[in-house]
Amino acid sequence: MSQSLLKIGCINLTDWSSIKKEPMPSLREDRIMTTNTPAPMPVTIHDSGHYWHVTINNPPVNATSTAVRQGLADALTICVVDGKKKAVILTCAGRSFIAGGDITEFDAPPQEPHLPDVCNGIETSPLPWIAVMHGHVLGGGLEIAMAAAYRLADPKTRFGMTEVKVGLIPGAGGSQRLPRLIGLDAAIPILTAGTLITADAFMGLGGLDMVTEGGAMADDQGLRAAEDFLAALPPRPDPVSTRAIVIADPDIMRHTEAKLNAASKGGQAPLANLAALQLAIEYDFKDGQPEERKRHLAMRDSAESRALRHAFLAERQVSRPALIKDGRPKDIKTVAVVGGGLMGAGIAFSAMMAGYAVRLIERDNDAVNAARGRLSGMMDGAIKRGKVAAEQAEARMNAAIVKDDYAIAADADIAIEAVFEDLKVKQDVFQSLAAVMRDDALLATNTSYLDPHQIMDGVSHPERMLGLHFFSPANIMKLVEVITLNETSRDVLATGFAFAKSLGKTGVLSRVCDGFIGNRILAAYRREADYLLMDGATPTQIDRAMRGFGMTMGPYEMQDMAGLQIAWANRKRLAPTRPEAERYVPIGDELCAREWFGQRSGRGWYRYEEGDHTPHHNPEVDVLIETMAKDAGLKRENFDDDTIQLRLLAVMANEGALIVEDGIAERDMDVDMVKLLGYGFPRWRGGPMCFAQEIGWSRIAETMADVDRQSPDSWTLARRLTKPA
Ligand code: NAI
Repeated sequence: MSQSLLKIGCINLTDWSSIKKEPMPSLREDRIMTTNTPAPMPVTIHDSGHYWHVTINNPPVNATSTAVRQGLADALTICVVDGKKKAVILTCAGRSFIAGGDITEFDAPPQEPHLPDVCNGIETSPLPWIAVMHGHVLGGGLEIAMAAAYRLADPKTRFGMTEVKVGLIPGAGGSQRLPRLIGLDAAIPILTAGTLITADAFMGLGGLDMVTEGGAMADDQGLRAAEDFLAALPPRPDPVSTRAIVIADPDIMRHTEAKLNAASKGGQAPLANLAALQLAIEYDFKDGQPEERKRHLAMRDSAESRALRHAFLAERQVSRPALIKDGRPKDIKTVAVVGGGLMGAGIAFSAMMAGYAVRLIERDNDAVNAARGRLSGMMDGAIKRGKVAAEQAEARMNAAIVKDDYAIAADADIAIEAVFEDLKVKQDVFQSLAAVMRDDALLATNTSYLDPHQIMDGVSHPERMLGLHFFSPANIMKLVEVITLNETSRDVLATGFAFAKSLGKTGVLSRVCDGFIGNRILAAYRREADYLLMDGATPTQIDRAMRGFGMTMGPYEMQDMAGLQIAWANRKRLAPTRPEAERYVPIGDELCAREWFGQRSGRGWYRYEEGDHTPHHNPEVDVLIETMAKDAGLKRENFDDDTIQLRLLAVMANEGALIVEDGIAERDMDVDMVKLLGYGFPRWRGGPMCFAQEIGWSRIAETMADVDRQSPDSWTLARRLTKPA
């Protein structure tokens, strides 16, 4: 195949209306694509003699948008048998094959041509189609590939049916063809968990005809690979939709259902995908596929799918806030962390794993040894989980410098402070850092509640200062609140976002307020939970209700896990500025006074057995609550789980709305992302703002009116509650 042949006969399918009238596409001069051809068309066809070459070019990920489906449907009409043609070769331009559907189209009714018809057309086409793949082959992309007669991929290709991640089942035969192609057992995790598999694994399961010898399979390279493959005249296999399903473990459906039910926090999509596979087992493709489609379309309209689509899009947008539009990230090679405790060691470890040169500063020799111990503990865990090879781990440990000497920060491009939550201690740290570091090196604090302006007061060059608020455990949690201070430069902020991303984390912009976005909402959530406790609920009931909503943990189990001291210290700090009329519940203070700090001290809101983290009912806490309520002259009443859920969600959404109104967060989606990534809020609910939108802000307003009545003078209502849009 010569290069020049590729340039002829290129038909722009967006202009197909004029060509359709002809029985065969003509290869007239005016259809010749030159190198000067301007914008790429979503689907183009080349006649290369023995083959039709269909190329999708729909950046960034060749999603199966309406235009792409139309292009493929047109290709089915154009790419007919003409005496010479042996096959239709399908490739994608750019860095990937088709990596899914265009989810921005999912809010509107589906447009023709529909993907199932395109796939069925490809499968039944008189000329065999060959899909030549690279990058990611996801969702609709895999559905198209499975409809082709042959499948080739380069070794780095990843395959998946990721509909479950946006609350859907496949809509174009994916759940019906995949088990017929690779067997039921292998199809289950791909559909129910959205697991991606490698080209080698897919080949091993019979999903591919060939894994090529490297190189991206875009355009003419893909064409050559396909031609080499077809030159051997492989017999055309039975269409995937007609094959029998191989089931290795006869109990696998039952076991998987039990597992999914146990792991489910209320989201239905994993089980719906399993049910779609059941369709494939029970029905022929011709009956199973339309039923799959019907269910897919119904799920597009579900709150769960809307929430997951919102989370999917928000996750990609939050890291690009308007404020850093013009910011240029600075180059970071060396990272200093001060404080090698719980958070500092986790942050240093994340930086080591991302390949930075790391300097960790502690206050004395014993603390240096303890910090080193934490790092090697995390490294051992990473080796066990296969995240890093033992040799590489050793090299990283040897390269990290841990000392009780600020001089090691001299060559660092950024320093992140994670020492005790104490203003004076933190201020001294920044004075010491500024004395040894370059004037343009970034200075960041990981404080939870203190004002970074005060922490770094008096240090020169305020434009280089920011907050980077990580979450515990910092080596695992994906969230970083990137805090902009009064004088932080856009380049420094952009660097904060780029740095978070390089650690595999998502940055969300927050301005300064008490607790920033996440902990400010947490404080409101806990406050209302405490009011409910005093007025009649129990910790067990509140935790159960919130787990029932889908939270990873209820508020009291979470406090016991994290330890009650930090919040206690914070309440004491805020006591002088707390409005006098605001209702205050002292139960948590009393637990701390008794040194019941949670799991680590064996008691907190619950009791714990030695070496076990399971919370057990603590009757003494019940007595304490009842006594305090009685002393306050309260008559305790019963709250049902729905009321508890709604009230706690209303205060979260109200606080989130205030945060946006105060300009602390740019958008509702920033608030949602913080709660989803940092606080165990169920992704399938989309976050508190998305949930409020779903049930209606007027409902939140009504609930806040109840909350306000129950605890007068204790709540500020967001403007959007008093003036709903
Ligand atoms: P920690 O008590 O586990 O660690 C603090 C470390 O700082 C200790 O190892 C201590 O030896 C060291 N240190 C104290 N003074 C120092 C100095 N002058 N120079 C060098 N090292 C010094 O505390 P943790 O939990 O790691 O918290 C650290 C910071 O991170 C605090 O500001 C906290 O509010 C914040 N944070 C904590 C989270 C958590 O869940 N624990 C979550 C997010 C932020």
